[in-house]
Amino acid sequence: MNSLIKALTGLLPLLSGLTLSSAYAADEPYEYDPELGEEINEVCAGCHGEYGQGGKEGEYPRLAGLPDAFIATQLHLFRDRKRPNMAMVEYVDERQMPDKEIADVARYISGIKLKTKLPPADENDPDFDAYARLLESRQLMQIPLAQGDVQKGEKLYQKECASCHGKQGDGDHKKAVPMVAGQYTNYLWRQVEKYRNKVRIHDPEDPEDDELLSDFTDAELGDMFAYLSTLDD
Ligand code: HEC
Ligand code: HEC
Repeated sequence: MNSLIKALTGLLPLLSGLTLSSAYAADEPYEYDPELGEEINEVCAGCHGEYGQGGKEGEYPRLAGLPDAFIATQLHLFRDRKRPNMAMVEYVDERQMPDKEIADVARYISGIKLKTKLPPADENDPDFDAYARLLESRQLMQIPLAQGDVQKGEKLYQKECASCHGKQGDGDHKKAVPMVAGQYTNYLWRQVEKYRNKVRIHDPEDPEDDELLSDFTDAELGDMFAYLSTLDD
């Protein structure tokens, strides 16, 4: 009996790969499949890194720890071509990425926790394993310090952004707000441009009144990003 169940669950990823996304509606009972999530993440890893740590200085954003609802929403936007992403479009069409798979990979990546510091190591220790150390260093969340007035940035950030993005910049999982600390500064700047040009919508609940990021000068945003870049230390 057990082996039958195993054989059947082994088939699930295959089957779900074949079903059309319309077969899965949000109100259907959804059962998280971590193995499928991990498997799909191998595709994402080519750009975003195996641990969702991002890469190429923010050309690929960090994904680890983003709220799963935020990740899923962005994948839907990419798939529906409502948020342009040339790099990803071929990976997220309906055939390759039905809703169930979006939900699984989003939850898997959301659950990855990156450390902010490596534990101390002694390179002269005979057991020191340089390769293991290298792998570990790739799982670190460390954003290079950005230039700007950190104190001014902190004040502005806490007043204008923290209510949604969190006091520590770590986002809000319940409300699907992404973290802005631990994210590449270059990436944040690119997104600011997109919101200002209305390529992305910052506040989906009030898209008509979506001027928030246009209300700040580049210098003010630079100060806020400088502050955010200190939060992973
Ligand atoms: C070929 C490279 C590539 C692959 C493969 C890829 N991505 Fe991306 N992804 C990108 C790029 C580039 C961006 C940034 C686009 C931008 O600047 O707006 C991005 C952005 C994202 C974002 C938005 C993050 C944010 O904070 O705004 C999410 C979520 C995401 N990718 C998830 C995934 C998942 C999940 C997979 C695997 C199913 C995946 N990506 C595969 C290149 C890739
Ligand atoms: C009313 C709540 C709210 C406030 C206030 C707010 N944000 Fe956001 N922010 C969001 C939401 C929700 C998203 C995700 C929107 C989407 O789907 O693109 C977001 C996304 C972002 C992103 C893109 C991050 C990514 O990973 O793609 C940046 C950058 C950002 N906000 C900066 C700011 C800054 C800077 C401030 C303060 C000046 C601010 N936000 C204030 C709700 C808010």
